Amino acid sequence: MKFYNVDFEPIGKRGRCRDDESLLDCARRSGIGMVSLCGGRGKCHGCKVQILRGSVSEPTSNERESFSSQELRDGYRLACQTYIASDCQVQIPLESVTTPQRIQVEGLEVSVHREPSVSSYHIQASSPSLSDLQADEERIIETLNHQYKLHCNSIDIDVLRKSSSLLRSWNWDAQVSLRDNEVIAINPWPSHQLGLAIDLGTTKVAGYLLDLSSGKTLASEGMMNPQLSYGEDIVSRITYVMESRAKTIKLQEVVVEVLNQLAANLCNKTNTKSEEILEAVIVGNTAMHHLLLHLPVEGLAASPFAPAVQRALDIKARDIGLDIAPGAYVHLLPNIAGFVGADHVAMLLATEEIWKGQGLVIAIDIGTNTEVSLINNGEISSVSCASGPAFEGAHIKDGMRAANGAIERLQLINGKITYETIGGLPPVGLCGSGILDAIAQLYLADIINKDGRISNHPRVRTYEKQREFVLVSQEERGSSPAITITQKDVRELQLAKGAIHSGIKVLLQERGYSEKEIKKVIIAGAFGSYINVMSAVSIGMLPRLPLDHFQQVGNAAGIGAKLALLSINKRVEAQAVASRVSYIELATAPHFEEIFFQAIYLG
Ligand code: FES
Repeated sequence: MKFYNVDFEPIGKRGRCRDDESLLDCARRSGIGMVSLCGGRGKCHGCKVQILRGSVSEPTSNERESFSSQELRDGYRLACQTYIASDCQVQIPLESVTTPQRIQVEGLEVSVHREPSVSSYHIQASSPSLSDLQADEERIIETLNHQYKLHCNSIDIDVLRKSSSLLRSWNWDAQVSLRDNEVIAINPWPSHQLGLAIDLGTTKVAGYLLDLSSGKTLASEGMMNPQLSYGEDIVSRITYVMESRAKTIKLQEVVVEVLNQLAANLCNKTNTKSEEILEAVIVGNTAMHHLLLHLPVEGLAASPFAPAVQRALDIKARDIGLDIAPGAYVHLLPNIAGFVGADHVAMLLATEEIWKGQGLVIAIDIGTNTEVSLINNGEISSVSCASGPAFEGAHIKDGMRAANGAIERLQLINGKITYETIGGLPPVGLCGSGILDAIAQLYLADIINKDGRISNHPRVRTYEKQREFVLVSQEERGSSPAITITQKDVRELQLAKGAIHSGIKVLLQERGYSEKEIKKVIIAGAFGSYINVMSAVSIGMLPRLPLDHFQQVGNAAGIGAKLALLSINKRVEAQAVASRVSYIELATAPHFEEIFFQAIYLG
């Protein structure tokens, strides 16, 4: 086995690469988060790199299909298919890196009556002496029960391990935090009483630090889910972990590392300590939930997609490696079904004020997997649509995540294209909302017809045997290649929008309603918050309703997690909402194939 040096540009990171590992594995080992939708099978084009110097293995058949001969001559390769044979310099394009990305952490503010599951008390216990030989545990419990008329009966074993010597150094003046009748933290008096709410998404993780005594959100932050490097969608990740126990452990470890990093960052921002975080609430889709808890995912891999557990769970934070107060718990909201998880329950919880008593409402959380609920008179039916990663910019030739330089808004007026990019930087590619705008504008200008076919236009060209519309030409970009929408991109978006539209259609059909009867459409999630609703309606992704029927609510799942953190009543409500939902498996709906086939038409 030989080792070579690899310089990864433009990040300027150097890796030591073995000749028997792929460039993708080497990048991962070097701490570089790379896009890998297909889990390294050479199918998704996500791990595109350019070899600037050095020799590497011959292109595989997948690479010959992915790149033109000119691109291969220019050194473009798929990192997952490439093995190096000398020291190398490798350029990683912005769109192949999983960071940085704009992450939606904000959402509508919902007020809640504060009833956290943890309460903190100030105690002053007496010191042990020759005439008072009581053990530390009994001393704390007795003082607490006596001072506050409580029924505390135990101290978490880790709290006991860590606190005995500290209590002596604090002269037995301490802040004791209780959950039910168990002591889960002992801190010096006075300490903060903090809670951590996490929305664990397939692509992004949003974290919120809350003051449990006031209910205020002290800080929030978003990070990329590092599991992206092991497969961008849920199915790739499930396939990955089913290959070995070591891979299951790996995926759990990388995500917990990010949760700990988030907690540390939030504490740094607020000058607080992670030991002061007395409880966490985590919401995520069923697969993220199972991977975090090391639960078997085999049931999610094949029909009927039964989860290992549905009910809400309370587990010790240390059991998943979450580094907060020693005896703290993590509460996980209930799942609904294999592909409709606790994040959708959290979203329904957060938007309850909007949908309650409103008549027929559609609540939709757009992502790689899109969950849709139809709500009427307290009855909730849900479906899960495999909308795929096109809205994340994946499988789109010039698609990219919502990072700096991504075109996020686009208009075509009198044949002239105007656009806005994230950060106001020169355009690098198109993120989801930009792709949606581009297809809608081309459709409205009759450049793309109902079937999705690109017609003739001065900006339409055939390049590498494919028709494409030039959005930003090579001349406009200087020396970089033109940014285009290809015929294949249009097909990808048609499939994504068709999945969402057919999900809504099946729900309406199953419950006997028509589109016209919908009173409100609630759109949640990062992508949903940034889209131009008009574009989504124009291409037929969302129902054709007046614009004031739509409400974009930001990261409602994160808000739901915050509500559950602040109120045990909200946890009860979440359980009630989850048990009221009847889940419809799309594949089993009558005439689903026909509905889907119709739904992929534009307009
Ligand atoms: S093509 Fe390399 S990870 Fe998908």
